[in-house]
Amino acid sequence: MSSIDSFYDGIEYLFGEIVVFRDFVMKSREVYNFFNLEPCIEDGNTFLPRFEEPPLIEIKNISFNYPNDKRKIFDNFSLRIEKGEKIAIVGANGAGKTTLVKLLSRIYDPSDGEIFVNGISLKDIKIDDWYKNLGVLFQDYNFYGELTVEENIYMGKSVKKIDKEKIIEAAKNADAHEFIMKYKHKYNTIMSERFREGIRPSNGQKQKIAIARFFYRNAPVAIFDEPTSAIDAESEYRIFNRIYEFFANKTVLIISHRFSTVRNADRIIVLDEGKIVEEGTHGELMANKKKYYDAFTKQAEGYTKE
Ligand SMILES: Nc1ncnc2c1ncn2[C@@H]1O[C@H](COP(=O)(O)OP(=O)(O)O)[C@@H](O)[C@H]1O
Ligand SMILES: [Mg+2]
Repeated sequence: MSSIDSFYDGIEYLFGEIVVFRDFVMKSREVYNFFNLEPCIEDGNTFLPRFEEPPLIEIKNISFNYPNDKRKIFDNFSLRIEKGEKIAIVGANGAGKTTLVKLLSRIYDPSDGEIFVNGISLKDIKIDDWYKNLGVLFQDYNFYGELTVEENIYMGKSVKKIDKEKIIEAAKNADAHEFIMKYKHKYNTIMSERFREGIRPSNGQKQKIAIARFFYRNAPVAIFDEPTSAIDAESEYRIFNRIYEFFANKTVLIISHRFSTVRNADRIIVLDEGKIVEEGTHGELMANKKKYYDAFTKQAEGYTKE
């Protein structure tokens, strides 16, 4: 009986191991494929320094469609972003705002036309050198639950030694310092409830921590793609204004579908189906009484009713 028993145990163990092994093979295949991915853009060979003053960015007559879709998101689109300008792009979902950010950060290349940074075509620039000068907070940004608050912010500039004072300053600018100080372990709290004494922040709090990362990064060109969608209107307004102040001598591109919170930008661009339909300061656009005016008054009404 005991022999039969151990025989069965053996078989059971063998099958258990096979399952584990299969799991392992599947995972390692993912990793293998990941490391074998070829970049779909070709790296340039012009080196860039880290800019002391922000660069002039010229988007010239670009057209673009996603590889799997013939529909043109941009057709002969141009935009000049002056050194240190604070630009806000507003527009309905699907207008092409995020696509523009992807083109600026060279995740894709335009099919026609070119983007120039200080007169050099983006395609000719060493991509890592461009990234050193660029900070992009994407809509679906990374958040690291297995790390602490401090590390999540530090991630913005992890090539340098950690600067605790700057981390706190960044968190204050992003309206995050207060709730972080309420955590038992403060800046050393792990950002996931799966860990002992870890905490799961709300979506709005996560966004604030991610924004703090960009204050900490302090790149010459900072792009925020709808960074405040889960943050309450009042806090959002404060954060936006601090962004303009803090990045005073940097170029800032803020993207939002909320018309009512970008009013302090130097220039507001209304994007619709890949086209600039209106641009100007808040005052100018309000005087125009067109799309911006309509959307702004509608959304402003929505807020006062809340
Ligand atoms: N990876 C993709 N492949 C194909 N189409 C896409 C992809 N990403 C976005 N699109 C399409 O491009 C258009 C513009 O999208 P997007 O730039 O994300 O808009 P916005 O950020 O203004 O809301 C949308 O119609 C969207 O469906
Ligand atoms: Mg978008």
